[in-house]
Amino acid sequence: MSLFSSITLRIAALFLRVGVHIYRPPVTEELQVPSPVLLNFHGSGFVVAAHGSDDEFCRQMSQKTGYIVLDVEYRLAPENPFPAALNDTEDVINWVLGQPTEFDVSKVAISGFSAGGNLALALSSCIFPPETFSSVIAFYPTVEVFVDPGAVAAPDPNGQPFPTFVLQLFATCYMLGGHDPRDPRISLAYADFDRFPRRVLLVTAAYDSLAVEAESLAARLRENSGRIVISERMERCNHGWDKMAKEGTFEWEAKERAYKLAVDMLKST
Ligand SMILES: *[C@@H]1O[C@H](CO)[C@@H](O)[C@H](O)[C@H]1NC(C)=O
Repeated sequence: MSLFSSITLRIAALFLRVGVHIYRPPVTEELQVPSPVLLNFHGSGFVVAAHGSDDEFCRQMSQKTGYIVLDVEYRLAPENPFPAALNDTEDVINWVLGQPTEFDVSKVAISGFSAGGNLALALSSCIFPPETFSSVIAFYPTVEVFVDPGAVAAPDPNGQPFPTFVLQLFATCYMLGGHDPRDPRISLAYADFDRFPRRVLLVTAAYDSLAVEAESLAARLRENSGRIVISERMERCNHGWDKMAKEGTFEWEAKERAYKLAVDMLKST
């Protein structure tokens, strides 16, 4: 208890401009110190303040895996375009890696949703050395920012895909700094496959046009990198479906199945 309160305080002191929500595993005899840690980044389109929207995911991961979960905020566009969000998340990861008595630095995993999934993939394949993270987990991430979203159809056309103009607006805001959209820190399709962590989990949604690029990345990673790549498409689900899923619906079942894939990946390391 006191150990983690002190961590909370020190994080608060270090990251006044970036909030971190901490989810502790239940106190059991197996509680590990130093603790394995999962860093999570919420979805935002790089623009929308949604820190806390992954509350249920973070709670489940900390309850079911023994990992301490840090749900990390980051600066948003258009005020703070690329690379502000990457810089913020990089800072928090460096802070974690510098605390080997509190965190098991051989078991640092990274996850994210949508734009946060893009950050998780970029941090693990471009910013940090290949062995830094034991696994990377991305839910319906953006992978190819340079592709016109209006030109891509979702695998299943019967849902409510994100309006093209919204996707274009998000990308424009993130790119306001004038960087090349084919920079591998922005478009993971250009990242070096050999730099991804050993385990990669990609979850996509069938009604989401972003599924196409994420599944293509998964296929190419699986064929070329020798990584353990798990990719699963959730049928009849929209982008971000898990955030609104109601108990008793198939969306709820899909959410539980998707989160279970993440639990299994964390527990397998
Ligand atoms: C991001 O980090 C780089 C390298 O430390 C720095 O040069 C740049 O100014 C930072 N940009 C932002 C927006 O934080």
